[in-house]
Amino acid sequence: VRVAVVFGGRSTEHGISCLSAGSVLAHLDRERFEVVPVGITRGGTWVLGPDDEERLRINDRVEPEITDGRTLILPADPGSRELLSLESGSVGEVLSEVDVVLPMLHGAFGEDGTIQGLLEMAGIPYAGPGVLASSAAMDKEFAKKLLAAEGLAVGTYEVLRRDETTLDERRRDRLGLPVFVKPARAGSSVGITRVTDFAELDDAIAEARRTDPKVIVESALSGREIECGVLEFPDGEITASAPAELRVEGGAGWYDYESKYLDDITEFDVPAKLSDEDAERLREAAVTAFRALDCQGLARVDFFLTEDGQAVVNEVNTMPGFTSISLYPRMWAHAGIEYSTLLSILLDTAIA
Ligand code: DAL
Ligand code: MG
Repeated sequence: VRVAVVFGGRSTEHGISCLSAGSVLAHLDRERFEVVPVGITRGGTWVLGPDDEERLRINDRVEPEITDGRTLILPADPGSRELLSLESGSVGEVLSEVDVVLPMLHGAFGEDGTIQGLLEMAGIPYAGPGVLASSAAMDKEFAKKLLAAEGLAVGTYEVLRRDETTLDERRRDRLGLPVFVKPARAGSSVGITRVTDFAELDDAIAEARRTDPKVIVESALSGREIECGVLEFPDGEITASAPAELRVEGGAGWYDYESKYLDDITEFDVPAKLSDEDAERLREAAVTAFRALDCQGLARVDFFLTEDGQAVVNEVNTMPGFTSISLYPRMWAHAGIEYSTLLSILLDTAIA
């Protein structure tokens, strides 16, 4: 089976996508899959390669980056900025010859239905959710609306469309403090500010708007941060993993970009220490969320478990991180599905 692993891309999560792809390329079962690595630069140029996990690693807090049609600038030695030549070729030709695509892309132009639409038009099967689920999950406003319509708890929020630069007193009072100000469509906490004083609100809105003209302001949820993996098997069965918990012990005090990828300040419990009833309730809610957005293949559903026991869905990620420290593959490894088996299931489901 020929599989194209597509990574990098135009989103703010370019570097994380490269890291995810590095792990994926190292774990794909090469006896079953012939792998075609396809990088996309930040500018949107598609290039062949690289296929080298060593070179798709974070190094000295610098992420790998695909920079143009022939080169990958490596962080390994920032002084010399070593260049790696890539095999050249026509990506269109390559894609037309693959059996399935693994869009290992996070954020805009990857996790949001756009590449899924391209692949639908080209008639190429791909792993993960389709166009609607991808774009609905990516958009924090519409994700909440669809999840709430299915009876799931979501937090209190206000949306600022492109012509709005602030919230009036009524909307501020409705949210209370603190709030999180977020680009409506982004990931990995890029562009997010935690605001504890409304005097800082407008700057936070402007900051989020650098990533997305649509901004969402959410009441801070308090409680335990629990994530749950959902996986669809080739026979159509949809299963949730045991939930995992993360605790940020330092840094900014919340699960921001640094604590996700750069600093060693997040503790993970895989699985989360929960009562059997709570674990079961969260797993059921994760599958309900997966179905509410009409997902296929996989998703990671992120919750806050509040003190009064409510499972509030924070968000649904349709292409969760696959880096070596990412929770999604670790949750499945705990369930007995090793990383490479997980990838085989994703691809088998895509072509089933
Ligand atoms: N958006 C990042 C990759 C995640 O959810 O894991
Ligand atoms: Mg996310």
